[in-house]
This record gives sequence, C-alpha cells and structure tokens, in this order.
Amino acid sequence: MKDSISGKKLLDVVTIDGPGGSGKSTVAREVAVRLGYTFLDTGAMYRAVAYAAMRSGLPVVESRVLAQLLKTLDIRMMYAKKGMSIFIGQEDVTTRIRQPDISRLSSDFSTLKSVRAFCAKRQRRIGIAGNVVAEGRDMGTVVFPDARWKFFLTADPRERAERRWREDRERGIKSNLNDVYRNLVGRDHQDAHRSISPLQPAPDAQLIDTTHLSVSQVVEFIIGDIRTDQEKIFFENA
Ligand code: C5P
Repeated sequence: MKDSISGKKLLDVVTIDGPGGSGKSTVAREVAVRLGYTFLDTGAMYRAVAYAAMRSGLPVVESRVLAQLLKTLDIRMMYAKKGMSIFIGQEDVTTRIRQPDISRLSSDFSTLKSVRAFCAKRQRRIGIAGNVVAEGRDMGTVVFPDARWKFFLTADPRERAERRWREDRERGIKSNLNDVYRNLVGRDHQDAHRSISPLQPAPDAQLIDTTHLSVSQVVEFIIGDIRTDQEKIFFENA
C-alpha cells in the first residue's frame, strides 16, 4: 500500500530501534503480540554470528575465513509459545548468546561490513512480506527505510543498566550492576560511532524517552499510534 502523502510504497513493518536497555525488546515483543505480527529480534542474529565467530577462534576483522564462515552459517529463528529461540544448525544458543562476553563481541563483530550484509539480507527477507515488528539499531534507517511505522526508544543510561541487570537475573545470568553499566555505555558508544549503519533515529521515527514510563505505557502509545494510522488508511481506501 502507498503512503498518501509521499506516494511511496510502504511495508507493513513496525521498526523499534534504540540502545540496549531502552526497553525495545520487551516493548517490541508485546506490540507484536497485540498486532498479531511476527517479532524479529535482530540483535539475536548479531549475537549468534559473534558466538559462531568466537567458537571458530576468529578475530574481529574482515577475512577470508570469516567470509567462508558466513557463507555456510545456518542461523534459524524458531518461534514457539514461550518465545523465540535461536539455533546455529542443531544447537540451541538462545541462552548462551545472552552472556556478557557475547554482548560485547556482538557489538564488535557488528561493525564489520560482511556481518552487517549477512544479517541485513536475512532480516529484509523476513520483513518483506510485512506484518513484522523488527527491533534493533538500524531497522528504520537501513533495513526497512520503507517501514510504515518507526519508533526510536531512549532512556537514561543508569535506568537502562538496571533494566538489563534485572533481565539478566530473570534469565538466570549472574551479573554485577556496575559491569552491566560499563558494558552498556561502551557498546552504545561503539554502536553510535561505527561507520556502517550507526545507531541513530531515522528522520521519520518517533522518539520516545522511556526513562519514566512503564512497558505498558510505551506499548499503549505505540499501539494507539498504529491503530489511528490504520483507521486513516482504511477510510482513505474505503
Ligand atoms: O539488541 P542486542 O543488545 O541484543 O544487540 C547486540 C548487539 O548487536 C548490539 O550491541 C549491536 O552492536 C548489534 N546490533 C546491530 N544492529 C542491530 C541489532 C543489533 O548492530 N539491528
């Protein structure tokens, strides 16, 4: 369907970008459930690539070995009632890729052009059919510039670290709040300053500061915005 103002063909995709701990994963998952859309956690893809590269003993540089690994890397997202699982071949890596060592390494590997091309291609393939909520860093800017709805979540870094620390605990991952804070701020800096697809809001994204908002308040805002837009489209085409 085309946008009535620009005349551009838009995808029925909701992009939710932002730094770690801004609440985007929880919010995106809930928005996807409410809309009956597929939830696409693109960070999990970068984490799986970093884990595979680490296991093969690869340094964070472009190389023939890395290119070869990406050529044969079989990453699968499996959706079930309890949530999304991620597999490399037959191995379930869902929990392993959430460990702090992979958090940092995924940010390192995601600076490489070949890794970004590998992930973006798969993400685009999933989203092109529409009815997807895609969560990440460059969804609204690079992977789905033609998404119909774009949001960028931010929050105070201390608040984000506390949220990530609580999330880790719920997942059974032991972490120290100060380490989580340092890791998060370091990754933010690297993600925002890399030369390819840096973390930044798309010019047409709505910015939401979630520091003092609950998950349900953010979800309600996003759903309300999408529903209003959907009604507008419905009446325009009636
Ligand atoms: O969102 P999450 O913390 O799981 O992402 C892990 C890392 O993957 C981020 O720090 C970021 O460097 C990278 N990433 C990215 N582009 C995305 C999603 C994640 O560069 N779309």
